[in-house]
Amino acid sequence: MSIEYDLNAIVPPYITEYLREKITHNDEFLHGLEDYAEKNSVPIVEPETARFLSVACRMTRPKKILEVGCAIGYSAILMAQATPDDCKITTLECNVEMVALARENIKNAGYSEKISVIEADAKDYLSYIDDDEVFDVIFLDGPKAHYIYMLDECVRLLKKGGVIISDNVLYKGMTADDNHVVRRKITIVKRLRRYIDMLMEHPELETSLLPLGDGVTISVKKGKQ
Ligand SMILES: C[S@@+](CC[C@H](N)C(=O)[O-])C[C@H]1O[C@@H](n2cnc3c(N)ncnc32)[C@H](O)[C@@H]1O
Repeated sequence: MSIEYDLNAIVPPYITEYLREKITHNDEFLHGLEDYAEKNSVPIVEPETARFLSVACRMTRPKKILEVGCAIGYSAILMAQATPDDCKITTLECNVEMVALARENIKNAGYSEKISVIEADAKDYLSYIDDDEVFDVIFLDGPKAHYIYMLDECVRLLKKGGVIISDNVLYKGMTADDNHVVRRKITIVKRLRRYIDMLMEHPELETSLLPLGDGVTISVKKGKQ
């Protein structure tokens, strides 16, 4: 896959180049999905974030994962590879074409038993999930402007000791600095700023904010497990 450097990225291109040189992989199936995503402008996790997600899954050894924003199933398949065989992944996607592509990709990757793709608007669907359906890992990679509306439900559905990983929270640096804000993105930026404050001030969470990829938070739910 060719690397295109985004000049608005939060990490300088020479660092990104170095990181991507170091975190290459030989998984042909994932390479195929990366090529498809690039050719068809489907946003998938950046390589650095993908590796972080994979390592986080291997560290936490989750039994249940919830993902918001499946797209073509790339990150769901990546998490399936990095988790024990008995781990179940539920991934939510509102775009019907993406749902079909993701299901096909997941079948071809051999993970139909492990990953369920649910066609739904995540904001509505989360509130229907029962309290006893707790998850060990929740990966938020859906509509950035709606993270603020999903956080309470995610905390409710997260096991103590479980983690919420949220992608794109620095949003090309716009979240951190008014001078970087593109006018038409102001609503998303304001909501992402609020989201970061909500995470940081949340009494049940401890959160680390990382300048990785497009900005990633990892939040752990405090309390005895
Ligand atoms: C960044 S992409 C997800 C990429 C995927 N996690 C990966 O790395 O392979 C975000 C996806 O969220 C979906 N999405 C946006 N709003 C949503 C909503 N309210 N509910 C469910 N999915 C949503 C979009 O259709 C899009 O496919």
